This record gives sequence, structure tokens and C-alpha cells, in this order.
Amino acid sequence: MRKKTLFTRMIAVLVVVGTITGISMWYVGFFSFSPAASYDVNLETSLKDAASIPIGAAVDTYNLQNDPQYEELLSLHFNSIVAENEMKWKALEPEQGTYDFSHADYLIKYATSRGMQVHGHTLLWHQATPQWIENFEGTDAEFRARIKGHIQTVVGRYKGQVSSWDVVNEAFDGQAYRDTVYYRRLGANYLVDVYTWAHEADPSALLYYNDYNMLGDIDRVNWVMTEIRRLITAGAPIHGIGIQGHITLESPSVSSIKAALAGWDALELKIRISELDIQANYDGVYKVLTDRLANQQENRYKQVVAAFLTSPNLTGITLWGLYDGHTWIPYFQGHPDWPLLFNTQYEPKPAARGFLSAIIGENC
Ligand code: G3I
Repeated sequence: MRKKTLFTRMIAVLVVVGTITGISMWYVGFFSFSPAASYDVNLETSLKDAASIPIGAAVDTYNLQNDPQYEELLSLHFNSIVAENEMKWKALEPEQGTYDFSHADYLIKYATSRGMQVHGHTLLWHQATPQWIENFEGTDAEFRARIKGHIQTVVGRYKGQVSSWDVVNEAFDGQAYRDTVYYRRLGANYLVDVYTWAHEADPSALLYYNDYNMLGDIDRVNWVMTEIRRLITAGAPIHGIGIQGHITLESPSVSSIKAALAGWDALELKIRISELDIQANYDGVYKVLTDRLANQQENRYKQVVAAFLTSPNLTGITLWGLYDGHTWIPYFQGHPDWPLLFNTQYEPKPAARGFLSAIIGENC
């Protein structure tokens, strides 16, 4: 009798533990072995056709050249492109005087032959500075000539084809100038000089300042705004602000996004949402994009895009990648994520439906 009670208790414990484990594993998507969830999402129109502003994607030239499905998806939905990496200084001139324009030329020819807009990214960024510039041993005057030479060579080459540039990316660290080789060697007012050099090389190109953390932290937004205003007064031809937009399902809140945008609008410059993606797995808990997450991501895209579209100065929204098969987030975070509008099979996700319904809502 005692043996039977013990046995029954053990079975009960096993059932409870098994049920809890099973539910938890289901919750985090453990049982889905499919490489990409398939969604019954049919977009009634292409994103670019529905929008009154250019809709862009950051593009990888290798994929563009070698993957017909990638190219097909890009040309169907997007009318603006930016090179994810291939127009950064490290990629264009890895050694002093040795330029490789092959990938950038391909991208720009591809875009211009199809009437797509090209945004140039980026002339100066501390993370994409080649070693020979980081370690440059010449005088400050020689350093200055190198920087001016690079900016004017690149902007000059694509004059009339690249309609706008991120001249400087992420020059500010919080509410201060970032300690970069440019800041140290060109001096505290270097942004005035570098924007002037870019403007000289193509006076018709729109010149943007691009940065992250430009939506959530209103104190930082105010600090950057004040600094940009000062730079313009000092003569810098800055025409617009690039707000990157690498965000998550929760943060920043829609109300902070609206408050930040109202701040940026007060600057009366153009505004690009320049690198939008929405992480669905910020904490790294999930192995797949569950239906629940996909729906949350759909609503989040809908709400934030609707908030962006309230800005009268908005000149475009660019996704930082074309599809979940190629995105920087998993490498950067060290765990899976699905931050874009199309899944790894190039199919529209609920996120794409959310994005589109915000655009259509705006036009109603
Ligand atoms: O091409 C090489 C490949 O040959 C090599 O085998 C491999 C091994 O690491 O690296 C490859 O290069 C990588 C490159 O992406 C192409 O995939 C670099 O290591 C890697 O650092 C680079 O990361 C890029 C990152 O900027 C740094 O340049 C990301 O793809 C790109 O999405 C990211 O984009 C930045 C924006 O430019 C500025 N705003 C933030 C955004 C995200 O960090």
C-alpha cells in the first residue's frame, strides 16, 4: 500500500514537472524545428507603391549580385538603397591610396538604372576607419588633407548619383563629442570642416548627421539638437538628421518617440529614419519567432511607423537590411533574432503587414 502511494506521488511529480517543462519549451519555441515560420501574409501592394516617401533597405552587394530572390524582393518593395558596409572608408580605401570602388559602383549602377534613390553611408565613422588613418603619423595638416581628399574623392565620384550622404556617423557619445581620431586631429570644430568639404564636392547632395539613441533619451536629443544648431550657425552645411532606429519591441515607448520627433522637427531640418529594425528577442530567450512575438512585432512596426509619419520633415524610412536571412543583429547580440519585414524565405512577415498598414493609414 505504502509502495503504491509513493509510486503514485512520483508519477504525479513527473506529470507536473513534465507539463511545466513542456509549456516552457513551447513558450520559447523549442519545439519548432522549422528554419523559418511561414505566414499567411499577402501584402495588397508593394511598400514603395503605397508610400509617399522613399522606402529604403540597406543592401549587401554580394547578395544582390548572386541571389535572384534577394534582388527580386528588393526591387519589388524598395525604391531607395544604401550600402550596408561597402561605402565605408575601411571598405573603399583599406590601404592608403588603394581604392576599391567595384562594389559601390555596382550598387549605384543597379539603383540608378532602376530609378532608385541612393543614400551614401558613411564618409566618417570611428568604427569604419582604416588602420592607416587611425595610425597616421604625418602632421595634422597632412592628416587634414587626407580626410578632405577621401571625402572629396568619394562624393565627387558619385556626384549627381548619390542624392544624400551620412557625412559623419556617431560623432557624439552620449552628451559629448566622441573621442575619435577625427576629433583629436582635426580639432573640436571638425564637423564644420568635413561638411563643408562634402558640400564643395557635390553642392546638390543633401548632407545628414546620422546617429543612434536619438529617439528615447530626450536629454540627449536636446543636447545633439543644440550642438547641430551651433554647427550650422558656425557654417556647417548640415541639411538633415539621420535617426538610426535600432529599437526593440518595448523600447523606446511610442510616446518618447513622438516627443523626440517633435524635438527634431523644431530644428527644421530634413529627417530620415535611417537604419530601422525591431529586435524581437532582445533578451535572447527565444529560438524561433513565435506567433506571439510576430504579432507583437507587427503592432510595434505599425505604431512606430505611424509615429514617424507624423513628422512633416520626414524624407524617408530605411530598413537596416532586406530580410531576416541577412541582419547584423544576431551577430551583434550573440543569439537569434528576426528584426526585419521579410523572413529567411523572403516571405512577408506580420511585421511587413504592420509597416504597410501604417503607410496606408497615413494616406487615407
Ligand atoms: O566581409 C568580412 C568577411 O570577409 C569576414 O570573413 C567576416 C568575419 O568577421 O567579416 C566580414 O565583415 C563584416 C561585415 O559586417 C560584413 O558582414 C565585419 O566583420 C563586421 O564588422 C561588419 O559589421 C557591420 C557593422 O556595421 C560594422 O561596420 C554590419 O554588417 C553593419 O550592419 C553595421 O551597420 C552599422 C551602421 O553602419 C552604422 N549604425 C550602426 C549599424 C549597426 O552596427
